[in-house]
Amino acid sequence: MAQLLDGLRVSAEIREAVRVETAALSASGKPVPGLAVVLVGEDPASRVYVGRKKKACQEVGFHSLELKLSAETTQSDLLARVSELNHDSHIHGILVQMPLPAHIDEHKIIEAIDPRKDVDGFHPINVGKLLQGVDGTISCTPGGVIELLHRYRIELKGKKALVIGRSNIVGKPMAVLLIRENATVTIAHSHTKNLEAEIKASDIIVAAIGKPRMIRGEWIKQGAVVVDIGMNQIEDLTTEKKTRLVGDVDFETARERASFITPVPGGIGPMTIAMLLSNTLKAYKTLTNSPTPLSAL
Ligand code: GUN
Repeated sequence: MAQLLDGLRVSAEIREAVRVETAALSASGKPVPGLAVVLVGEDPASRVYVGRKKKACQEVGFHSLELKLSAETTQSDLLARVSELNHDSHIHGILVQMPLPAHIDEHKIIEAIDPRKDVDGFHPINVGKLLQGVDGTISCTPGGVIELLHRYRIELKGKKALVIGRSNIVGKPMAVLLIRENATVTIAHSHTKNLEAEIKASDIIVAAIGKPRMIRGEWIKQGAVVVDIGMNQIEDLTTEKKTRLVGDVDFETARERASFITPVPGGIGPMTIAMLLSNTLKAYKTLTNSPTPLSAL
């Protein structure tokens, strides 16, 4: 039976460390880190994520700003808001929740964020730094996966790692981080011919597919490490809400074969939030050492 990778516990440790550091800044009369979270439109899942991010900010003592904009916001309006936040000295991190409405070009918005305030690690400068192995902001979910594996002292060097999913937010940066850890990395996606065979050959499996319980326990190699990034709502009439959150992996069968496995919920989700806070604190330190906006340099 697999040992659980307890993202809730590790996340609480990281958040507590951030809280203590923030309290020390406050006590010495310094400004505290500030995070702006921008939500455009009414996507229900995004609203839940944004609400959690705001609450986490408040709990560690950060200054928190939430901008809720209508789904009709134009691209130029949003660019103007981002520019204001770039120049706002109380704000050290800017997070524009994805996905954006179809009429807005996400790349244009991401590129407009000051890379030093890009706490998501989505800006091309930060993505480029990640590829080059240079210090920059690492996107929160893949960064959270690596942090959790490190805390459980899971050896990645020389291991065969499989990342399932190739999104810019998760799959691609995840693969790069695993290469940095000296794993041998394969990326699988919707056109992969034989996913089952790929999974059976892998020591580390990171699933970011978005299909409830698609990965079956019998596909998992005995002793493999399973990281489930999926967050899928399914119907469950036995619960009060009539829905339940499950991952991309069939947890009950996979835990019989894996050596370590993340639960859903309570695995990677809380780690993402912890990394966001940690990235914001890091951005604060960078900015307070060189406060001039990049555009003015
Ligand atoms: N949408 C889903 N995950 C994320 C994330 O980590 N950051 C942002 N900005 N949007 C997301």
